[in-house]
Amino acid sequence: MTNADLEKMVETSDEWITARTGIKERRIAPDGLAASDYAHEASLKAMEMAGISADDLDLIILGTVTPDAPLPSTACILQDKLKAKNAAVVDIVAACSGFIYGLEYAKAIIQNGQKEKALVIGVETLSKIVNWKDRNTCVLFGDGAGAAVLAPSDTPGGILATYTKADGSLARLLQVPAGGGRLPLNTDNIGNGDRFIQMQGPEVFKSAVRAMEEAAVSILKQSGTKSGDIDLMIPHQANIRIIEATAKRIKLPMDRVFVNIHKYGNTSAASVPIALDEAVRSNRIRPGDKIMMVSFGAGFTWGSVLVEW
Ligand code: ACO
Repeated sequence: MTNADLEKMVETSDEWITARTGIKERRIAPDGLAASDYAHEASLKAMEMAGISADDLDLIILGTVTPDAPLPSTACILQDKLKAKNAAVVDIVAACSGFIYGLEYAKAIIQNGQKEKALVIGVETLSKIVNWKDRNTCVLFGDGAGAAVLAPSDTPGGILATYTKADGSLARLLQVPAGGGRLPLNTDNIGNGDRFIQMQGPEVFKSAVRAMEEAAVSILKQSGTKSGDIDLMIPHQANIRIIEATAKRIKLPMDRVFVNIHKYGNTSAASVPIALDEAVRSNRIRPGDKIMMVSFGAGFTWGSVLVEW
């Protein structure tokens, strides 16, 4: 869906969307396709790249805020699609930080010897919870999935450090109010927009810049790394201005920042793994490179992962 398509749906313009967000187009799931379908595609590609089969997996962690259904977890539905019968599986609801949280947990579980091969996925079909009449939000989001396989290795490097944080006191700034136990869907609220994403954009913007900087600075400090040592930062793709402000605050030139927001918009939990995948497959990442992934999302949640590739 291009900005021109959106011009026909709400009062907006390609100029406004491009200047304020950097987004030119986004992918939209057709009716009948849900998160597990996209997670399945991404998982097969990740397992192919890692040279493993579904039988090898003993852990699947799936980050999403747009599950196939409230029950069971989308990870369970994916496990069945993959026939990954040896895997323990779980969903993580950490919005745009779902993949980063998933990497931290998978790394810890592998490191303490409980599991060996983990599949970590970020997937969203945000188009299904976007209010297509609200120009403040509908221009921002898109659908997609990305996945990575984690396994123990004797080679030096790998995941060097992880950092995760949250602040639930700011939850109301970015939420879907209805559809849970607090405000079940009923005939009163089904039509009033409460089942869709509601966001206080400028407040979220300020928090995002602060938190992304904190996540980047904290992980650099924790690992004794300087920002000049980072070969590529892979930030959550929410807004080009948030990405640029974060890079500026940690003094990282934009040629060392991966950006694909123009093609996909904000795909929440899927944004970092989609960008990671594109960076690997286009040779922007080479063996030995230091990669810093940084995210921020609803909750609020934020975090970072430092990898030596
Ligand atoms: N087209 C045209 N005009 C618009 C649009 C639109 N699509 N949307 C809003 N406007 C108008 C507003 O109504 C406002 O008009 P007014 O001044 O007459 O009231 C004007 O544009 C400016 O609006 P602002 O909200 O001040 O614009 P801002 O520069 O803050 O940009 C944006 C808005 C893009 C939403 C920005 O605030 C943002 O990116 N916020 C952060 C989003 C984010 O990072 N989310 C992260 C997590 S997402 C997740 O977890 C799922």
